Amino acid sequence: MSEPPRTAPDPRAADRHAMVEEVARYDRRASAEMGRPGLSPAVLGALGRTPRHLFVPADLQTVAYANNPLPIGHGQTISQPYIVALMTGLLETSPGDTVLEVGTGSGYQAAVLAEMGVIVHSIEIVPALARRARRDLAVAGYADRVTVHEGDGYAGLPDLAPFDGVIVTAAPDHVPAPLLAQLAPGSRLVIPVGASGGHQDLLVVTRDEDGAVRRERVTGVRFVPLTRDAGR
Ligand SMILES: C[S@@+](CC[C@H](N)C(=O)[O-])C[C@H]1O[C@@H](n2cnc3c(N)ncnc32)[C@H](O)[C@@H]1O
Repeated sequence: MSEPPRTAPDPRAADRHAMVEEVARYDRRASAEMGRPGLSPAVLGALGRTPRHLFVPADLQTVAYANNPLPIGHGQTISQPYIVALMTGLLETSPGDTVLEVGTGSGYQAAVLAEMGVIVHSIEIVPALARRARRDLAVAGYADRVTVHEGDGYAGLPDLAPFDGVIVTAAPDHVPAPLLAQLAPGSRLVIPVGASGGHQDLLVVTRDEDGAVRRERVTGVRFVPLTRDAGR
């Protein structure tokens, strides 16, 4: 008689694998058009280990592994897996780094960063989304690596700065000075910048070791706007 398997098979593994293949295919075309290197095996590996279905509403779990953004309530979205992968790669993190994310949303991007070996402090302006992401991150096993804060991420988290990378997943119309100030020398801010509902540029803003700031445009994107807490 054969022994039962020690761990239950993951019924979503095939869907997740297919999503990673689709993202890799999409990336081959997109990176050639952008004239950039493609996604690294480390990023694709992190995507392949992150259970996206645990970060979408229950009625959308069957389509959780399509390469599309999905609504998560409160007028917000979980980003397209390709964009999550692209931004994760652009951060150029190393295991053990500490990263600030502005715009927790579902918690999925933070979970992918945790799969890269990064410690994440993520800040969300909609309290109900922050609470749900905290719960879903805990259920998915990321509570030890991701801390969700509530508030206006425009100001960053000065008490925990400097960060080895900052990623912003909602679009302001300019690069917030406080986020730049919280970057450790040599680290990167990955951020969509542009008009709400209009054209936005995905930028990598680097603060060199000597303090000089460089901006590089990567591609055009469409993100929800970065909103501001009127109290600040
Ligand atoms: C595209 S969604 C984020 C996707 C998210 N990273 C994920 O993986 O699901 C953008 C999020 O940014 C949040 N947001 C907008 N303005 C913000 C601000 N000033 N501070 C913090 N979060 C903000 C929105 O409420 C929304 O949840």
